[in-house]
Amino acid sequence: MTDRKEKGPVIAVDGPAASGKGTIARALAGHFSLPHMDTGLLYRAVALNLWRWGGDPGNEFEALRAADMLSIDPADEELRSEPVSRIASSISAYPSVRAALLKRQQDFAQQPGGAVLDGRDIGTVIAPVADVKLYVTASPEVRAQRRVRELLERGMPAHYEDVLADIRARDARDSSRDIAPLKPAPDAVILDTSNLERDAAVAEAIRLAEQQLARAKI
Ligand code: CDP
Repeated sequence: MTDRKEKGPVIAVDGPAASGKGTIARALAGHFSLPHMDTGLLYRAVALNLWRWGGDPGNEFEALRAADMLSIDPADEELRSEPVSRIASSISAYPSVRAALLKRQQDFAQQPGGAVLDGRDIGTVIAPVADVKLYVTASPEVRAQRRVRELLERGMPAHYEDVLADIRARDARDSSRDIAPLKPAPDAVILDTSNLERDAAVAEAIRLAEQQLARAKI
């Protein structure tokens, strides 16, 4: 068995929609020179497959079929569209869909050099022994403003009230599902970015990660 200390660090970044966890995870990956996986993209890719086939998001078997032989093109703009976000949130509640995506995420987390993963259940299910666990959050209003800006920058239509309603609905769905609900791991450090600009949030995340790594003596 490899000594855990010879392996690179595993960094888990979880949090709700548009909290800034993706930005923070990418910045941590750059800072510590680690590979990064955006696990939300896996659920979005399943959702996009299902949507393109005209499958029913209310049917677990159809959602599972869409998870089969999954190939992902991160550059595909439709992955981040609102209909796909909504479908991703519903199909991610299916245990069989989560199970189908588990190994890919765990293999990524366990690669020898270490890794950064962001999502909803990284610190709780995918990598419960991660060396760093951050739970990035922000108020629903701030998250809605950020998502509107992001959508407009991508040239997609976005209305604040609709996006806010959608974020609240998605929070409720993600937090209340039986399997892998959105909640901080008991040993996660909470980072509230409501009043932090991007650079300040990234700097704080790096500080917290270095603190946790020093504690883990990595
Ligand atoms: O950042 P945002 O929440 O908009 O999206 P995302 O992180 O790309 O996740 C899309 C959807 O996938 C979310 O609504 C979650 O329900 C689901 N998801 C999940 O269940 N578990 C993960 N590890 C990542 C995403």
